[in-house]
Amino acid sequence: MRVGLVGWRGMVGSVLMQRMVEEGDFAHIEPWYFTTSNPGGQSPSFGGKAAPALKDAADIDALKACDTIITCQGGDYTSAVYPKLRAAGWTGYWIDAASTLRMDDEAVIILDPVNMNVIKDALVNGGKTYVGGNCTVSLMLMALGGLFQNDLVEWATSMTYQAASGAGANNMRELLKGMGAIHAAVADELATPASAILDIDRKVAEFIRSDANPTGYFGVPLAGSLIPWIDKDLGNGQSKEEWKGGAETNKILGRSSNPLPIDGLCVRIGAMRCHSQALTIKLKKDLPVDEIEGLLASANPWARVVPNERDASMRDLTPAAATGTLSVPVGRIRKLAMGKDYISAFTCGDQLLWGAAEPLRRMLRILLE
Ligand code: HSE
Repeated sequence: MRVGLVGWRGMVGSVLMQRMVEEGDFAHIEPWYFTTSNPGGQSPSFGGKAAPALKDAADIDALKACDTIITCQGGDYTSAVYPKLRAAGWTGYWIDAASTLRMDDEAVIILDPVNMNVIKDALVNGGKTYVGGNCTVSLMLMALGGLFQNDLVEWATSMTYQAASGAGANNMRELLKGMGAIHAAVADELATPASAILDIDRKVAEFIRSDANPTGYFGVPLAGSLIPWIDKDLGNGQSKEEWKGGAETNKILGRSSNPLPIDGLCVRIGAMRCHSQALTIKLKKDLPVDEIEGLLASANPWARVVPNERDASMRDLTPAAATGTLSVPVGRIRKLAMGKDYISAFTCGDQLLWGAAEPLRRMLRILLE
């Protein structure tokens, strides 16, 4: 299978290349690397596999010569190229990290540990367009698939704590610069144990609000603060990120015509690449907590139940523990005061792995089976 790779140099693309090398994916494909800036340049040789010189990512004929295209190049690229490719009669498989095509009828949102049945149905019916889901949605379903897949959820609300990486590489840099600049603003006082914490705090607050604090990418301070809005304003009080929670979850589960109410607030916090979320779930029936935990743990090999205990939660249920791993810890599961059918849950996961790159390479492997 000749596989065209577009956007392999960016942040999600780089994580994808790393995972494809780790899993030996290159042994099964003939890679063609595409570029928007350097056609004719030398291709990389990921997985020890040689490839022809870099192709032009805008060259429809070159793209048409691929059996499958995987793109992490972003939504503008998809909008510009995908319709042209299909109009030119290309019938290959398009695997995309961008959100552009997600809600199109011809596209399936891929998260195979959760919706292999939906993917297989689409393949049987000639589906050719497969798109990775929103990172927060994919991570929620990886963690709580055991409840959703067994149709045990009446509704769910997710309050998110989303990392800087979801906004892009420059935003991660800005977060770190902000952290460093805040520290620098009070470094002398911090080094003096006798200095008063409220004086330090006042200087920190002044710095965070000042023009000296780097905010070019987020628009407002993130380090030492948070941002309770992610993505566009839909004009009805909901952010686009919040809308995706309901729309994409139902599409992934193959129940867009009979949707579950899923909604909540999405918040950016100062984590690097690990999204967290706190959920309130109304179950369809009263299930014991150990049964719920058993369902979650057995739903897929990556969901890892953390017992609802203080030490385990503090140690294992955090961005610091989950970042850079495929594990999706889920814990804080307990019955809430609202009634026996109401539970809480907390989960976190690496948004560049299950939230972006991993479903794409797994889709490729499904096509290669
Ligand atoms: N929209 C997500 C975020 C990342 O801003 O965190 C991509 O799914």
